[in-house]
Amino acid sequence: MDLKEIAEQIRKCQQCRLAQGRTNAVPGSGNPHAQIVFVGEGPGKAEDAQGEPFVGAAGKFLNTMLESIKMTREDVFITNVVKCRPPDNRDPQEDEIKTCTSLYLWAQLELIKPLLVATLGRHSMYEFLPATAKISAVHGKPVQAVNKRTGRRFNVLPLYHPAAALYNGGLRETLLEDFKKIPKILENLEK
Ligand code: URA
Repeated sequence: MDLKEIAEQIRKCQQCRLAQGRTNAVPGSGNPHAQIVFVGEGPGKAEDAQGEPFVGAAGKFLNTMLESIKMTREDVFITNVVKCRPPDNRDPQEDEIKTCTSLYLWAQLELIKPLLVATLGRHSMYEFLPATAKISAVHGKPVQAVNKRTGRRFNVLPLYHPAAALYNGGLRETLLEDFKKIPKILENLEK
C-alpha cells in the first residue's frame, strides 16, 4: 500500500464512532519523503470542513513556526493520531486512538520513514512515550522510539500543541524555542 491508498481507506473508514460525525476524514498531507512528520491530536472544525490537517488558527501558527526554521508544508508531512473530528472538539478517546493509529498512523510512518516525529500535544506524545512522561519535562528533547510494526528506529520530539500555545504566552515562547531546535536535531540525526 502507498500513502494515497492509505488516504483512500481513511476517507471511507467506518472502524470507530468518529466516522458518524465527520464531514471529511483528514488523512494528512505533505511530503511523502519528509525527514520530519508532525503528528497532532485530531481534526477540528476547519480541518473537518476541508479534509486537510492544521488549516485553522493552530495551523496558521504552525505555518509561522515552520517559516521561522525556513521550512514549508511541502518539506514536511502533517497528520494526526485520529483522522476524524471528535464531536465538539472533545479529546480523542483511548479506543479511538488505538484503532486509528494501529490501522493508519503506523502504516504512514512505515512508508514515510522519517528521521524525526514531532508530536503536537499530549495525545500524540503518549502514542510514542510512556504514560509516565510529562510534557513539561520532556518537551523539546528528542527521544528514541521504535516502529512497533517494523522495529525501525526513529526519534520523537515532544512539542506543546500550537492551539494551547495560542492562548498562553509562556507556552508560545517555549514552543517557538523548541521549534528552533529542529534544524540542528535533524542535522545531527542525518549523520
Ligand atoms: N489540531 C490538531 O491537533 N490537529 C489538526 O489537524 C488541527 C488542529
